[in-house]
Amino acid sequence: MYALRNTLVTREELQEAVKKLGAAISRDYAGQELVLVGILKGAAVFMADLMREISFPVAIDFMSVSSYGSSATTSGVITIKQDIDTDIRGKHVLLVEDLIDTGLTLQHLQQLFALREAASVRICTILSKPSRRIADIPIDYCGIEIPDEFVVGYGLDYAEQYRNLPEVWVVETGE
Ligand code: IMP
Ligand code: MG
Repeated sequence: MYALRNTLVTREELQEAVKKLGAAISRDYAGQELVLVGILKGAAVFMADLMREISFPVAIDFMSVSSYGSSATTSGVITIKQDIDTDIRGKHVLLVEDLIDTGLTLQHLQQLFALREAASVRICTILSKPSRRIADIPIDYCGIEIPDEFVVGYGLDYAEQYRNLPEVWVVETGE
């Protein structure tokens, strides 16, 4: 059983956070070649908003990873389902995520891009659940910190549903 419980982050709060992140990224990477790498499917909505808040031309790409475990948890074992096709060697990479929970997915991806000899690999997320962190990774650009609740909307799903909600909602998963 599951049902939407309440709105946790409004459209306005999301928009404001995205603007701030875009401004910081525009400032920090001015004059450099930047590739935004969005993690599918959840980061699709955030990516679309974020790229339009960056004040210089950027390249974008996407990859899809999966972690084994139930729909609401991450095991830390990650497989790449779909890889980028951009040559990122020597370029600055910014990994764009919907939500950082345990941090295991991003820790793995950061190591992967370092091995691929990116000039730098940083992390940008719209949402973060700091109380759930296992991997102590630096989050260079963090939008909004949220409590330990299961959330949907703004790209995030429960069983592939609700990604299209414009706000972030708390779901009662009954797990
Ligand atoms: P982690 O940081 O490796 O634990 O994985 C984070 C990923 O797990 C996110 O990008 C989401 O895809 C998924 N996830 C974690 N918490 C939630 C949630 O509350 N709602 C929907 N997806 C979640
Ligand atoms: Mg995700």
